[in-house]
Amino acid sequence: MTKAQPLTRHIISINDLTNKEIETIFEVAQGFLKELADEHIPYRIARSSGLASKSILASLFYEPSTRTRLSFESAMLRLGGATITSADPAVSSAAKGESLADTIRVISNYADIVVIRHPRDGAARLAAEYAQVPVINGGDGAHEHPTQTLCDLFTLRSKNKNLRNMKVAISGDLKGSRTIHSFVYALARFGATIDPLPAPGMELPAHVDRRLREEFHSRMVSKDSAPSESGRIDALYVTADQPHQLSLYAEPEIDYGVLQKKIDAVYVTRFQKERWTEKDRPYPKIDAKFLGEPKYAEASVMHPLPRVNELDASLDSDRRAIYFQQASYGVPVRMALISLLLHLHKNNSLHKFAGGFAKPNYPLYAQPIGTGIACTNPNCITCDPAESQYAAHKFYVIDGQAGQRLRCVYCESDIDEVVTARFAVGDTVRKTFLPGLSALTRAPAERLRHFVIHRSEAEAAAAGFAPRESGAGKVRAG
Ligand code: NCD
Repeated sequence: MTKAQPLTRHIISINDLTNKEIETIFEVAQGFLKELADEHIPYRIARSSGLASKSILASLFYEPSTRTRLSFESAMLRLGGATITSADPAVSSAAKGESLADTIRVISNYADIVVIRHPRDGAARLAAEYAQVPVINGGDGAHEHPTQTLCDLFTLRSKNKNLRNMKVAISGDLKGSRTIHSFVYALARFGATIDPLPAPGMELPAHVDRRLREEFHSRMVSKDSAPSESGRIDALYVTADQPHQLSLYAEPEIDYGVLQKKIDAVYVTRFQKERWTEKDRPYPKIDAKFLGEPKYAEASVMHPLPRVNELDASLDSDRRAIYFQQASYGVPVRMALISLLLHLHKNNSLHKFAGGFAKPNYPLYAQPIGTGIACTNPNCITCDPAESQYAAHKFYVIDGQAGQRLRCVYCESDIDEVVTARFAVGDTVRKTFLPGLSALTRAPAERLRHFVIHRSEAEAAAAGFAPRESGAGKVRAG
C-alpha cells in the first residue's frame, strides 16, 4: 500500500491561516526561540536542529529584500536544510520573458518549498496555482505580506499583549503597504481595535476597508464628532464580539470607552515610493514629540523595516521601541512555518485544505481568456503582458451587504459596476446583456460558461450583445 501524500499547502494571504493555526505556528516558534536562546545563537550561524535536513528552500525574489529573504534562508539553514536563491530578476530567465507559471513549474522540481516576492499584486497566488510544492508569499505588490504579520503578532504576543483588547495605531502609507493589509485583517480577526493614521491620500484601500467591515465584523467608531478637513469621518475599526451588521454604511457611532482607551502599539510604515508615481508627498513622522502624548505612554513602537525617515532614529533607545526585536523574530517564526508546511512535526500540523488554500465560500467565475472583463487593478499579475496569455481572469462573485461585486482571486481588489452578457443557450440564442451580476448569481453552476462579464454596456455592445429588453437578433450558438 502506498502512503498517502500529504496535501501541499500554500500561504499567500494571512487569511489562508485559521486563528488556531496561527497559534500553532507561535507555539512551534516559541520552541525554536528557546532552542536558539539556549545555544546562544545571536552571534553565530548554528544549526539548531536537523529537522529539515532532507529539504531545500528556494527563494525567488523579483523585488528588493533584506530581512524577508535572509530570515527565510537563515530559518531554513537553522532547521538543517539547504537553500537556493534567485534574487535578481535581471539575471534570471524573467529577463528573457519567461512566465511565472513556467518558472514555478521548473523550480518545483528543484526545491521542496518556495518563498516568492514579486512587484505585482496577486503574483504569489498565481505562482501557487502552478506549483507542486508549498509556496509562501514573501510580499506581492501592495497586496499582502502574511509572514511579516506572523512576526508582528508574535512580537505583540511576546510583550504579553492580549490582542483581543488591544488598540493599535497604524501610521503612514496604509494604501501601498502590503504589511498593513495582512496586519489589519489579523488584528480584526483576533478582536483588536485599529486606529488608522494615514498620510494624506494614503488611506486603506476601499476593498480592504470593506472586508474589515463586512467579513471581519469591524464596526466604525467616530474619533471626532465633526468630519475632518478632507470631509472624511475619522474613525476607528472596532471588532465587536458579535457581528455588528448595522454599522456598514451608517454614520459611525461614538463610543467613549474605546475612544479613551490608550494606544497599545503604533505600527509605522514607510512611504512605498515604488508603488506611487509621485515620489515626494507629505508624510507623518513618528518621533519623541508625537509619542509624548499621554495616550502613547505605554505604546510599543513597531515597524516592518526598512525605515527611511518616518521613524526618528532617536527612538531606538526608547523603551517602547521594539522594531529590531520584531525583525529578529523573523527567524523562529519562519522556522515554524517552513517546518509545519513540510510536515516535519509529529504532533503539530496545519490543516490540509483541498487545493492548498483556505477557499472563501463565494462562487468562482473564471473568464475565458481573450474575452470580457479584466481585473481593473493595473498592477494585478493578470494584467502583466507576460502572464495574461495564460492566466484567466478569475473572480469570486460576492453578494454582500454593499451589493453584488466581483473580487479578483489574485489581487483581491473589487469591481462593482459590471454588465453580465449571456450567450449560447440551446441551438439559437439572443446575445443579450443585463446590468449587474444577478443573471450570473441566479444561474446554476453548469450554465456559468454561457455568461461573459463586461466592464460596461458599451463594451458588451461592442462585443455584439444587445440590452435584454430590446429583442436582439438571433445568433447561432457556436
Ligand atoms: C516590508 C515589505 O517588503 O513589504 N519589508 C519587510 O519585508 N520587512 C516593508 C517595506 O518594504 O516597507
